[in-house]
Amino acid sequence: MELNTLPTLSTLLVSWQDGILTITINRPDKMNALNRTVFEELETVLDLIENTTQIKAVILTGAGQKAFVAGADISEFTSLDQAAAKQLARHGQLVFDRIEKNKKPFLAAVNGFALGGGCELAMACHMRMAAEQAKFGQPEVNLGLIPGYGGTQRLTQLVGKGKALELMMSGNMLSATEALQWGLINQVCASDELLDKARQLLATIIAKGPAAVSRVIAAVNALYEKGSEGYLEEVRLFGECFGTDEMKEGVNAFLEKRKPNFN
Ligand code: COA
Repeated sequence: MELNTLPTLSTLLVSWQDGILTITINRPDKMNALNRTVFEELETVLDLIENTTQIKAVILTGAGQKAFVAGADISEFTSLDQAAAKQLARHGQLVFDRIEKNKKPFLAAVNGFALGGGCELAMACHMRMAAEQAKFGQPEVNLGLIPGYGGTQRLTQLVGKGKALELMMSGNMLSATEALQWGLINQVCASDELLDKARQLLATIIAKGPAAVSRVIAAVNALYEKGSEGYLEEVRLFGECFGTDEMKEGVNAFLEKRKPNFN
């Protein structure tokens, strides 16, 4: 497919230059939180990426100065029962899987908060570069929840079990420098250099043989295939959270801008 026009979307901005498609999640007033529309539009753009030869690599970033993506859209959680929550998690995992298993390299240019689903989205990309002010975390426990878009699996793969458990159980955030030390990200740079550096790295990669680059991705992914039932266990447990008073209190407290009372 030739790249004649780029789609106009309500939650994503897409631009193309020299073989690199840049996707900007564009809900800055909601910290670029991932709602249903963002997922639908990401799937539309993934179709485009997979079917367009002129797109050789992809940058994912967030609009505005503050956030890459501050997680799943918590306001959509109040209407979900356990079955719907499982569906939400499984769907999120499938979309993020399409990124991780893509034949074309994806780089997350993390310009601010990458929390919850935002950290999970960055981890689904093949590489992560962050601006100095970026912050990373899986704060779902603050809401009586667990990560549901692959975070329990990919964080453990990237930083190891002990550090992954620490981050997910404490809900603490890591600075960009700490994330680099932990092995969660590849590089840190000044905010105003982030997109240029991301383009430079992808330009180097797309100058190589694209079939070989795709095979590197597939071969590295093969290491983790055995553990894939962990993703289903995550879906089951994420769904269970939606049957607890703890999760209702956590989500309501966030939406009502107060501290949760888990007792
Ligand atoms: N889902 C829905 N809305 C979100 C959101 C999310 N994950 N993260 C932020 N927002 C919204 C806020 O509700 C607020 O909306 P409002 O202006 O209509 O009230 C707006 O984005 C700005 O966020 P605010 O909390 O006022 O900004 P801040 O600078 O004080 O704090 C964060 C920034 C990222 C630390 C804070 O927004 C936060 O903790 N977000 C939730 C992170 C999270 O738990 N993610 C995991 C979800 S499973």
